[in-house]
This record gives sequence, C-alpha cells and structure tokens, in this order.
Amino acid sequence: MTKHLLALRDFSKEELSAYIDQALLLKKEAKAGVRHEHLLGKTVALIFEKPSTRTRVSFESAMYGLSGRVIYLSGRDTQLARNEPLKDMARVMARYVDGIVVRTYGQEIVDELARYSSVPVINALTDLHHPCQILSDIMTVIEQKGDIADLHIAWIGDGNNMANSWIQAAGKLGFALTLACPAGYDPDPQILKEAVAEAGKPITVVRDPAAAVAGADVINTDVWASMGQESEQAEREKIFAPYQVNSALLAKAKGDAIVLHCLPAHRDEEITDQVLEGPQCVAFDQAENKLHIHKAILAIHLAAK
Ligand code: CP
Ligand code: NVA
Repeated sequence: MTKHLLALRDFSKEELSAYIDQALLLKKEAKAGVRHEHLLGKTVALIFEKPSTRTRVSFESAMYGLSGRVIYLSGRDTQLARNEPLKDMARVMARYVDGIVVRTYGQEIVDELARYSSVPVINALTDLHHPCQILSDIMTVIEQKGDIADLHIAWIGDGNNMANSWIQAAGKLGFALTLACPAGYDPDPQILKEAVAEAGKPITVVRDPAAAVAGADVINTDVWASMGQESEQAEREKIFAPYQVNSALLAKAKGDAIVLHCLPAHRDEEITDQVLEGPQCVAFDQAENKLHIHKAILAIHLAAK
C-alpha cells in the first residue's frame, strides 16, 4: 500500500522513532563519506505553492544525496493554478514520478492528492501541519538531550501548523508539552483533543508564557504571522508581544534548556537576536537536520511503495 506522510497522527511511536533512527544513521554515514544510493533511478516532484528556503533545498539535496533526482514546480508552474482537479493532477503525476512532496495552503489539498496518488505524497507544510519539520526538531532534541520521553517541551506563541504537529508528536511519543498561546490563537481543538486522549504525559494550553517555560527542557517558538497571514502582521505584533522568547523568559526554564526555532526567524519579534544567537539556541543544527530527516523520509516512503 502507498505510504503517505500527511500528518504525524497517522504513525505509531515506533514508526516515528524509525524516521529519527534512520536520519541519525544517514547523517553519521554522510559525514563519514559514505555514498548513498537508496534512491538510484527514482525521481520526486516538489510542488511548492508557498515560498521555502530550507524545506525545498533540503528535500532537493536529500534526494541528490541518495542518488535520486528532483523536479521542482512552483504553484505557478502547474495547471493547479488554472484549477485542474487535484484528482487528475495526482493520477498524472504518479505516472511520471516516484513521490510527490507538496507545500500548500489547505490540508485538504494534500489529503486529496494522497487519495488519488499511487505514489507517496509527503506534506512539506500546510496551514494545519508541518510534520517533516517536527521530525527534524525532535531529532535535534534527541541529539542534544539523549531522549525526549522524559522532557518537558514548551511552545510559546501561535497555535499554528507547527504547534499542531508538535501536539500530535507529543500524543504519540509521550513527552510533556505545554503551549502558551494568546486567547483566540489556540491550536486546533480537535487535534488537541485527540492527542490528549492518547498521550502518556500532559499536553496543556496556558495563557502565561512564564508558566509554560517553568522547568522546561526545550523552548520552541515560531513566527507570529505564518505564510498567508501577512495582512494580520501588525495586529498580531501587538497581541503576541508578551509571548516573545527573550533572556528573561529563558531564565525561567531549566538552566540547560535549549531553544528551537524552525526558521525563518523575525529577530526581536517572536525571539530576540540575543537568544537566537545565544549558546542555548540550536536553530541552525535543527535546520541542518532537515536534510538528514528528509533523506530518511524519502528512503522510507519511496522504498515502501
Ligand atoms: N522551516 C522551514 O520550513 O523553512 P522554509 O519555509 O524555509 O522551508
Ligand atoms: N508557521 C510558519 C512556519 C514556516 C516554516 C508558516 O507556516 O509560515
């Protein structure tokens, strides 16, 4: 059966751990000069309807690093821009390529592509989820801390796509997650409810960032206005101002806490330049790990086809 990656909810704890184990191995081997040929002769299409630096380049580099090939298509380049039905697009693409990596707006778009595609569809960010990013974030936490199961993770800011995917990861992997979001900017309530029901540790939403980071091992934040919300930027800057990750907030976490940011960062908005450039921030290791986790995702999904 075709194995898609649409949201972390669809995977077991063992499957999520397998991505990370595979990525750690591929990283170690690549640094030792091992030449990988997992995807020799395979091609993926990257269809990106929103901008991307890290996700696009790391997926392309991951594919080349496994001896495969890539076709990149921006939103403007396909007949999707002229409303070709997704079910037609999916069935045609599946005749040309071995996998489809998609960055778009509605989650229903990747879900619909997957419904009709006989090759794996990988979600490279929607308005609702950013599952591949959270896998590289968790890989980074495991590299830094050894394991994630007994850690307390804090999410500060918008209850957005990143927050939703962190919630699903917490439900599956069983770490404690506290999210501090302003009223009106909570994560998706259904995603939260489902994850809380299966979680081994608390997943809670609070209003006070200081309460969320108290005793935290990891502090995580993201932009206040995501792609597609540019018109709300000024209003959000006012509402989210108390949710900035700065030195005062960091001081309330554990002394050895690490700071994550998926990037791009807006310095001195959601995170201060001092914290982003400071010794506790691992955002650039996190960015590197997107390359290794994308290799693992491509190897696992394209092999399973
Ligand atoms: N973190 C992330 O997804 O970055 P890009 O938008 O640059 O891909
Ligand atoms: N929440 C952000 C993540 C960017 C990687 C967005 O969707 O724009």
